[in-house]
Amino acid sequence: MSEHIAKLIIDNITYELPIIKGTSDDRAIDIQQLLKKTGLITLDSGYMNTGACTSSITYLDGKKGILNYRGYPIEDLAENCTFTEVAYLIIHGELPTSEAMESFKHDMVRFALLHEDMIHFFDSYPSTASPMSILSTTVNALHNYYPEMDDADDPYGGYTATAARLLSKTRTIAAFSYKKSVGHPLVYPSPKLDYCSNFLNMMFDRPNLPYEIMPEVVSALNKLLILHADHEQNCSTSTVRLVGSSGANLYASISAGVSALWGPMHGGANQAVIEMLENIYADDKDFEKYLAKAKDKNDPYRLTGFGHRVYKTFDPRARIIKEACDKIFEQLNVVDPLLDIAKELEERVSNDEYFLKRNLYPNVDFYSGIIYRAMGIPTNMFPVMFALGRMPGWIAQWTEMKEDRSRIGRPRQIYTGHAEREFVAMKDRY
Ligand code: ACO
Repeated sequence: MSEHIAKLIIDNITYELPIIKGTSDDRAIDIQQLLKKTGLITLDSGYMNTGACTSSITYLDGKKGILNYRGYPIEDLAENCTFTEVAYLIIHGELPTSEAMESFKHDMVRFALLHEDMIHFFDSYPSTASPMSILSTTVNALHNYYPEMDDADDPYGGYTATAARLLSKTRTIAAFSYKKSVGHPLVYPSPKLDYCSNFLNMMFDRPNLPYEIMPEVVSALNKLLILHADHEQNCSTSTVRLVGSSGANLYASISAGVSALWGPMHGGANQAVIEMLENIYADDKDFEKYLAKAKDKNDPYRLTGFGHRVYKTFDPRARIIKEACDKIFEQLNVVDPLLDIAKELEERVSNDEYFLKRNLYPNVDFYSGIIYRAMGIPTNMFPVMFALGRMPGWIAQWTEMKEDRSRIGRPRQIYTGHAEREFVAMKDRY
């Protein structure tokens, strides 16, 4: 029984609704009995104010700029962990012991290869195919090749194996899709390399031009993936939960999550940021023109990389990424005019009344694309990088939804179309 209640008065009748509380100060009015008690539903377009579940994976406070995975601050994880370690934490709920870590890494190695029949998939896409489309469709197809996920007794089945398989194989799929797009021979995963080094090697190693794996690049990639690893009930994660709530398998649910992430208002934003910066650069750095467009209510244009549904202060991930960005540029001695454009744009936005009034600060996507560029990753692969990072979050959220025996997701609506009408036969219509 809840200690606190909310009172709702409709037509002079008072209804009592329980208030539930999370670990921190977050509270919610539990409306699960509202329809039964009152005959009314709630209307909340864009789920601005709707809690769809309780969850013990990620905590974020948008006003204070706090983000914790399983209770650990993002700053500590990004500074001290590898992506694989954080993936384990998110999926299993605890930081791994060294033994657990070895076993998880071993699973990642044994599941890194794709079934050879799947290699033909890559031949059937045009070389211009979007890597996000390849990732989404190929992840969906994984269930045909690895259906043992539903069989916990199978040595290659069960949850732990499936989680490692998804993390490992999506990295291979991402690198193969890039190799196919540039017409280079595929580079297979190496059992000797860690997660990030393996990915970079599969992307950039060539028979005539061996790729030198630089620890600075590996470290920056680990950081970026950690920062993307989960972000509670965002658009793609909610999609994964919603699809999974119908009983669809994990691969199908995550494939849908990849599609949801693709849009420029979500994971596609890192790609759109670069395109925006390139446009400003090509336009003789006419910042004012783009700021004016973004502020013009008759123009749908927005400054990509600014604003967030939940953060109303600096996105803590953006702060870490900005630091990582400066570091890697210095370490690699890279010069990119877009970094200067980004910094100047941020400076102008931070002094602009329009953006200040609406609490629009740089989000995680503002600087991430610039780092990926410095690593040599092409722009159309940026959303795929986001998807690789988000994989542990999707897996953990899907599993939590299953363990909570969540009902099938099924929002309601308020119908505003025609009232019932008399049918008119075709011959009588004019
Ligand atoms: N540029 C200009 N104006 C903006 C921007 C922006 N980037 N973002 C929000 N606004 C304005 C809106 O026009 C609105 O103004 P109004 O109150 O005068 O009507 C106000 O700020 C509030 O914006 P909403 O659209 O209501 O905020 P919402 O929470 O629905 O949207 C979103 C959040 C989608 C992230 C939005 O800020 C946006 O479109 N940003 C650019 C795209 C982007 O960077 N997406 C990546 C987000 S991070 C992620 O998914 C990993």
